[in-house]
Amino acid sequence: MNVLSNRRAVITGAGSGIGAAIARAYAAEGARLLLADRDATRLAETAIACRNLGAEVFECIADVGTVEGAQASVDACVAHYGGIDILVNNAGMLTQARCVDLSIEMWNDMLRVDLTSVFVASQRALPHMLAQRWGRIINVASQLGIKGGAELTHYAAAKAGVIGFTKSLALEVAKDNVLVNAIAPGPIETPLVGGISETWKRAKSAELPLGRFGVADEVAPTAVLLASEPGGNLFVGQTLGPNSGDVMP
Ligand SMILES: NC(=O)c1ccc[n+]([C@@H]2O[C@H](COP(=O)([O-])OP(=O)(O)OC[C@H]3O[C@@H](n4cnc5c(N)ncnc54)[C@H](O)[C@@H]3O)[C@@H](O)[C@H]2O)c1
Repeated sequence: MNVLSNRRAVITGAGSGIGAAIARAYAAEGARLLLADRDATRLAETAIACRNLGAEVFECIADVGTVEGAQASVDACVAHYGGIDILVNNAGMLTQARCVDLSIEMWNDMLRVDLTSVFVASQRALPHMLAQRWGRIINVASQLGIKGGAELTHYAAAKAGVIGFTKSLALEVAKDNVLVNAIAPGPIETPLVGGISETWKRAKSAELPLGRFGVADEVAPTAVLLASEPGGNLFVGQTLGPNSGDVMP
């Protein structure tokens, strides 16, 4: 049985890594997809993979770090499918600097892409979800939003913001059957962490209880669960942690 049959889903950052894996998993479960990314080439690759799985797919090339870009994917979903059932706010970026060296531009860029986009897209989707009394918003945070990370004050602050936003919005809309939750992955082998040295990765893997990084296809099933019925029905304002044991709340 396809647990997301005919659900209309927006996935941001679908061109790569975790977003692409969620897109493929949703396609396999029968969802109709609106995939968004600022990288047109990689977005097209994901779209082809999802169509090969039998899904209906529209693409939206947009920078979610702008208000217009964050709204565009939701608007496109409504235009193509007549509404939106599931919003996965996954797009994100990672830069690194000691706080003492962090420029205000780096700080603002991080907040725009990793936090403000979540608010703007969610706000755009909410009227549709509230009117139909069914919706799922899934925000991809990070375990660093819980435990923090040296040289990542801006990233950790943005992701902690996503978790706080998730809980607060969940309190506002759960009674309308709009369920808002977060996923806080641990280290996952994607291009996002491609720039990190092998030495650091080996040391980090050794300190993980599981002894290894995850891969994107091991995160995507959590996003399927949260969007599905009845599996996702009782999750409200939660932050689920596919994180190799890095954080145990
Ligand atoms: N990889 C990890 O270890 C890890 C751990 C915890 C959380 N996360 C989070 O998971 C999410 C996905 O990360 P990933 O590892 O798959 O990264 P990735 O770099 O593989 O993919 C991110 C995708 O988002 C897109 N994107 C980035 N900024 C965008 C913007 N402004 N507008 C539109 N698209 C944009 C990129 O083009 C890319 O396709 C991010 O929010 C990230 O912070 C990743």
